[in-house]
Amino acid sequence: MDIKFDYTNLFRHSKMEKGVSKEQFKSEKELCEIAKNLFAAKKSTDPLGFCELPDQSVEHILAYIKKIENRFDTMVVLGIGGSALGNKAVYKAIKTQKKLKQLYVYDNVCPYFWDEILTTINPEKTIFNVISKSGTTAETSASFMFIIDYLKKNFPADYKDRLIITTDKEKGFLRKIVETEGFQGFIVPDNVGGRFSVLTDVGLVSSAFVRIDIKGLLAGAKAMRKHCDEQDIMKNPAMIIALSHILYMQAGKNISVMMPYCNALYDMADWYRQIWGESLGKRYSLDGKEVCVGQTPVQALGTTDQHSQVQLYVEGPKDKIFTFVMVENFKKDYTIPNIFTDRKEVNYLCGKPFSALLNAECLATELALTEVGNPNLMIKMKEISEENIGAFIYLYEAATAFAGYMLNINPLDQPGVEAGKIATYALMNKEGFDTEREKIKKYIENKDNQGDILCID
Ligand code: PA5
Repeated sequence: MDIKFDYTNLFRHSKMEKGVSKEQFKSEKELCEIAKNLFAAKKSTDPLGFCELPDQSVEHILAYIKKIENRFDTMVVLGIGGSALGNKAVYKAIKTQKKLKQLYVYDNVCPYFWDEILTTINPEKTIFNVISKSGTTAETSASFMFIIDYLKKNFPADYKDRLIITTDKEKGFLRKIVETEGFQGFIVPDNVGGRFSVLTDVGLVSSAFVRIDIKGLLAGAKAMRKHCDEQDIMKNPAMIIALSHILYMQAGKNISVMMPYCNALYDMADWYRQIWGESLGKRYSLDGKEVCVGQTPVQALGTTDQHSQVQLYVEGPKDKIFTFVMVENFKKDYTIPNIFTDRKEVNYLCGKPFSALLNAECLATELALTEVGNPNLMIKMKEISEENIGAFIYLYEAATAFAGYMLNINPLDQPGVEAGKIATYALMNKEGFDTEREKIKKYIENKDNQGDILCID
């Protein structure tokens, strides 16, 4: 693992209206103690099992992948939220480093998605991986039903070899299917929440399939865990992320922008968007008070968003804290050719690698934001590697848990998401949801009667 965690610009706030000083930061020992103690206490009782994942054995995954490796060249993951975003993020990052097999992650029920899958893949060489911790989510259930029907029709003799299911070890509809129909099953551990599960079978099976070094991912996570267990706040990167974001949130910075300067890491920022948003956006505190807290995570891409969002970031409201993610060494690079050397409009670019331009622009944006008083962090990866990606994942899982406990909320549940799932069941006429259905019927009637709708032909 080789990551530099630069937090200097959290405290360079001369122009900041409500800055946090280093002294104040260091003095917040109580908040950190609360977070550390809750973290330690919850480790044994709540779904904080992500801390143990770096130590797990992955031999069962590698043995299965060995069996199927010559038969399939593509995997399609069918899942949503925590059962999809991590798979995509790890794949997109490592794909830049080595030749991988093909992975598609379909995490929506948009019909155009299905059209895309069925017209893109070679069905003969494709294996499907249905992932759902609960085993009951409507979107994943629908995709599962569609694909099992498709496989039975197209491969009646061996459809069972073409689908694997990753779900809870006992509960849910999908586990029953694994048992009754005899599909290859993998497990989402009970004590690991959906969005914290990328380093379980959820993310490791698809990663191992495409030839990502999953032991490397875990080694990186393990190395980072040591830093996130560090008692001294100023040496613990997860604690620094959590504390800075919470203190600045209390000072009115309700938006957290993660901006990697590398396309391969854009999906990592998308994964962050889920873990930070879904874990910290909560109505009730641990002691049952209505608090409605949370910080809105935003994903941006350098340099692309310099020409879209950065104007707002620099001159707009001071309601944001930023995290840049920079890659120091690019495995593949291209050089801007030595042409137009006599044209001063462009000759400063001659002979320079694209990575140099990219990273210069990252520093330029960091500088521009710092100068006008926006707090920011810089995470520099020496290069993209399994170790660094595993470390990054663990860092943000730990930071999210710490931040949740600093806010005195439960970062591991998602009652708002569950409410949406229940309303969907009711709307789609699932048995046992009559009360919810009645409530929705009334809501629709009221809305229709109110009639504030413009039909624009
Ligand atoms: O983090 C979470 O728990 C959620 O985002 C879930 O991952 C998502 O709702 C999908 O749930 P499941 O894996 O049970 O289908």
